[in-house]
Amino acid sequence: MPATIEGSIKNSFSLPLSEIKKIIKDFHSEMCRGISGKKSSLKMISTYVNKPTGKERGKFLALDLGGTNFRILEIELKGDGKILPGKEKKFVLAKHHISGEGRKLFDFISGCIKKFCSEQGIKTYEQRKIGFTFSFPVRQTGIAKGVLLHWTKDFSASGVVGQDVVRLMNEALIRNGLRNIKIAALVNDTVGTLAAAAYQDQDCDVGVIIGTGTNACYQGKVKRMIINIEWGGFNKLRRTYYDELLDKSSNNSGQQMLEKMVSGMYLGEIARLAIQDLIKKQRIFKGQRNGFNLAKSFKSEHLSEVETDNSVNLSGINIILKKMGLKSSTLQERKTIKVICHAVSERGARISAAVLAAVITKIDPALCRRHTVAVDGSVYAKHPGFANHMKSALREIFGKRTGRLNLVLAKDGSGIGGAIIASLAASGNNQ
Ligand code: BGC
Repeated sequence: MPATIEGSIKNSFSLPLSEIKKIIKDFHSEMCRGISGKKSSLKMISTYVNKPTGKERGKFLALDLGGTNFRILEIELKGDGKILPGKEKKFVLAKHHISGEGRKLFDFISGCIKKFCSEQGIKTYEQRKIGFTFSFPVRQTGIAKGVLLHWTKDFSASGVVGQDVVRLMNEALIRNGLRNIKIAALVNDTVGTLAAAAYQDQDCDVGVIIGTGTNACYQGKVKRMIINIEWGGFNKLRRTYYDELLDKSSNNSGQQMLEKMVSGMYLGEIARLAIQDLIKKQRIFKGQRNGFNLAKSFKSEHLSEVETDNSVNLSGINIILKKMGLKSSTLQERKTIKVICHAVSERGARISAAVLAAVITKIDPALCRRHTVAVDGSVYAKHPGFANHMKSALREIFGKRTGRLNLVLAKDGSGIGGAIIASLAASGNNQ
């Protein structure tokens, strides 16, 4: 393959510092517009909760819904920044739950809660308050009240958009005979992640998720509460031809533009579209039948596997290509695949760093203080090189001051944080 094609693909996905600086500027102006209620691609949602102090105590339940896995957990807060993990169970949502009737989705969840309580010996005749981590854009009007603005991450259950999801969940609990179990707080996963980390480290003031979807929140000063940015919707980024193609064929075209360039739901698909383009142009795999023309056939996990292959012959990539239906490939072709995958994921990491830098400088323009940033999500935690690319872009942006930023992997913060916020709501200390 001529170096120019490889070079031009790399170029189209590259994000130099000059562009990062422009993103930061545009992000700031969208944040300001969103906060002041003007039209903006950033929703800047008030959450009616402040970060915990670490002194909260007690046993609390949480439901964590944000992807195809749904979790129920109970944790104990010891009051000295310590959390005792307790009972936990994971349930898998089927396609018909996420894209069928909303009422059935909520009935299924409340059925799972009933099962969890009976298996774990949790008495359902006693009053129990639950934190509901619901990781979708919800316009909150109180700590336990909020209307779903639109679905993301391939969810499309009917009858939920425009409705108060706390009411829908509480009604489903009643239908299932769980009258004493009530949602005490509605929590975005980024807010849960921030809360879980802040319970142990008071320097934590930003929560980020880079997984199937992506988003961030921060402890606001002007509005004294945590603000859920919904950064996945940011739409001031330069898009390639492949991003446009992906957006057009998605079920939420025109929405979640940043999410479509960063999160695990889409990274594999962007790479697939770029690879398919080269195949169509007869640059690689000449004349061979292959599965790259099938939408969503190349997953973000494949992208991770491609990037971890450091063998001389790129034999791991060969195995993946065989799975994609290709009988044979040359070393040069496998190198090209690696270059494309790398370019796509590195761009995702650099975009994430740019918008994180924008959030930090919104809170603390000259980066005078220490900030712990709690990050979770499969892409950040597992995609090879992603976290490092993000950190090196942050170094480019902040130079020596980067030392004041501490990015910590806050595993399972969304569920734990849900329980912590339920404790704040139960004690009336949320604000
Ligand atoms: C949702 C956010 C969520 C993020 C990470 C996005 O699709 O809109 O609310 O925080 O995914 O789960």
